Amino acid sequence: MAECILVLDAGTTSTRAMVFGRDGKLASVAQAELTQHYPRPGWVEHDAEEIWQKTLSCMREAVGEEGAEDIAAIGITNQRETVVAWDRGTGVPLARAIVWQDRRTADFCAALKEAGHEPLVQEKTGLLLDPYFSGTKMRWLLDNDAGVKAAAADGSLAFGTIESWLVFRLTGGVHISDASNASRTLLLPLEGADFDEELCELFGVPRAALPRVVDTHGPLAEAGAEWLGRTIPICGLVGDQQSATIGQGCLSFGETKATYGTGAFVLTNKGAKVPRSEHRLLGTVLCQGKGKRTYALEGACFVAGSLIQYLRDQLGLIGSAAETEDLARSIEDSGEVVIVPALAGLGAPHWKPDARGVISGLSFASGRAQIARAALEAMAHQTHDLAQAFAADGAAWTRLKIDGGMSANDWMAQDLANILDLEVERPDFVETTALGAAMCAAVGAGLHPDLPAAADAMRGNAACFAPDMDEEVRKARLARYARALSAA
Ligand code: G3P
Repeated sequence: MAECILVLDAGTTSTRAMVFGRDGKLASVAQAELTQHYPRPGWVEHDAEEIWQKTLSCMREAVGEEGAEDIAAIGITNQRETVVAWDRGTGVPLARAIVWQDRRTADFCAALKEAGHEPLVQEKTGLLLDPYFSGTKMRWLLDNDAGVKAAAADGSLAFGTIESWLVFRLTGGVHISDASNASRTLLLPLEGADFDEELCELFGVPRAALPRVVDTHGPLAEAGAEWLGRTIPICGLVGDQQSATIGQGCLSFGETKATYGTGAFVLTNKGAKVPRSEHRLLGTVLCQGKGKRTYALEGACFVAGSLIQYLRDQLGLIGSAAETEDLARSIEDSGEVVIVPALAGLGAPHWKPDARGVISGLSFASGRAQIARAALEAMAHQTHDLAQAFAADGAAWTRLKIDGGMSANDWMAQDLANILDLEVERPDFVETTALGAAMCAAVGAGLHPDLPAAADAMRGNAACFAPDMDEEVRKARLARYARALSAA
């Protein structure tokens, strides 16, 4: 009997395919970098055809020569909010995908806010009026791309987020989106099974162009035999941050994870009750099985690992991301250097699309080490800002589970524990995003009865970082960051 799960993890900077056993052990992995297009300041685009082609070749490489006999199901997890527009007849993209980091709809969002629409939008969707989410990106394509406009007029337009796009290509035309991804569009009410007419009208998005909303786990669709030699059921579809929450086993009320990938995203499980934030956090769908939803409260920071990438690729200050750990350890403190990583505006809890990054406290003594250390320190500070907002919303964290590429940095993990004054736990296997999708697909395919059982069977051990910082030093760091933040 086939007992492996093939996970497609279509992230922002790379796309990957991974094969997991029923016990959560990783059997193989293949990865390809994605081209980032920055046509103007604040704009970020992807080529959807490249995402599909690279995902397909990773998938074939990860499954390997032995073939797909052992694959019981496919699970897909993805960068969220990014919008693809394609022709539903030909399956060909009509324009470049607009990536979640893209700020081009800031003015449209400001106008909607000015007109007083934010309370309704927040009440219905749990989201705020920020260019981050998909709805205004769809509207931009309709207003500015002739191909998209024409396809909307003749009924051939299909919109979708990345999981939706991959499913369409894998199945040869099934147009679906799972509830966790759909809950990031501004068009899905947290309590509604399907996209909402009133919201579609507000954002000017034709209902007919949108996918059907489905569960995050269950028998969802079937990938065609042309890709891996036989048809394979798609049994898990889940946005990457929700997937990491599941992969971390945050399946009970109040459990919290933070993922440090391209951005940093903190989610707290809120159970079956729709979360309402009064402190600019987001309500979102964590998962949905047989139509029943579990929700999460989310804090989204747009820049985390991408700051380290920026230091490496744009400024040439470091040769590799791993170097930052040695540099941070090589000095006692950052010498008053503070970085506010608002390179793509500020997300939660500040929501300032026009904010820009700050490096403050420079002196002639500030070198590479101080800047690298300040970059790592910024992760703890951004997370601390979120911790305060969660606490103010009555959802204080008692412990934080971390993951994502950057979390492998021990110095950063310890600094997080110190600044949050909280125990931080990091699993030995940090690819929790892919693991969460594997868990969803395993449950959807009937390999495990439910997500808690899948978590028991598939998750490994974790390391713990306990706070260990002088309170005066901590307070001074927090005060210095708050000053720098006000200049962003
Ligand atoms: O909401 C954006 C998020 O899904 C992107 O995740 O892993 O690319 O930082 P990541």
